[in-house]
Amino acid sequence: MRKLMIFAAASAIAATLGIGAVVSEELTTLRGPSPNADVAVSDVAKQEVGNRFERAYRQQPPLIPHQIDRYQIDMRANQCLNCHDWSVAAKQGAPTLSMTHYLGRDGQQLDTVAGTRWFCNQCHVPQADAKELVENKFKPSSEVK
Ligand code: HEC
Ligand code: HEC
Repeated sequence: MRKLMIFAAASAIAATLGIGAVVSEELTTLRGPSPNADVAVSDVAKQEVGNRFERAYRQQPPLIPHQIDRYQIDMRANQCLNCHDWSVAAKQGAPTLSMTHYLGRDGQQLDTVAGTRWFCNQCHVPQADAKELVENKFKPSSEVK
C-alpha cells in the first residue's frame, strides 16, 4: 500500500512537471501533415518566351513575358520604367505602360507613373509553367458564353 502511494505521488509530480509526457505519436494539425515535416517547394519554371501572353479576362494585368530578376524596384529606383515608360518605350521596342498607370489618386493626368503603380510586380508577374494548386474549372472569359 505504501509503495503504491509513493508511486502515485511520484506520478502526480511527474505529470505536473511534464516529465513522462513523452510524445509517442507524431504531432498532427487540423491541416494534416506534421508541422515539423520539411516542406519542399519545387522551383517553378519561369518562362522567358518574349511574346506577349493572352489575357484571361479583360481587366487582367498582363503577365510578363520576360525574366525580371535583374530589374530593381525599390523606393527610388524602378528599372522597368527604363523600357516601359511612355518616354522611352518606342525606342526600346517595349509596350508603353497603359494610360491608366499615369492617373493620379484624384484622377489627374500625370507625366510620370502614378505612385499607386510604382511596384509593378504587385500586379504583374512572369508566367510560370506551374500546375494548378487546386483542381479547378477556370476558363478565360472569352471562352465563357
Ligand atoms: C530591357 C527592356 C525591358 C525591361 C527593363 C522590362 N521590360 Fe517588360 N517588356 C519588354 C518588351 C520588349 C516587352 C514586349 C515583348 C513582346 O512584345 O513580345 C515587354 C513586355 C512586358 C509586359 C507584357 C505587356 C502585355 O501587354 O502583354 C509586361 C506586363 C511587362 N513587360 C512588365 C515589366 C515589368 C514589371 C518590368 C520590371 C520588373 C519590365 N517589364 C522590365 C521590355 C522590358
Ligand atoms: C495596381 C496594379 C498594377 C500596377 C502596380 C502596375 N500595373 Fe501595369 N497593368 C495593370 C492592369 C490591370 C493592366 C491592364 C489594364 C490597363 O491597361 O490598365 C496593366 C497594363 C500594363 C501594360 C500593358 C499596356 C498595354 O497597352 O498593353 C504594361 C506594359 C504594364 N502594365 C506595365 C507595368 C509596369 C512596368 C508597372 C510598374 C511601373 C506596372 N505595370 C504597374 C495593373 C498594374
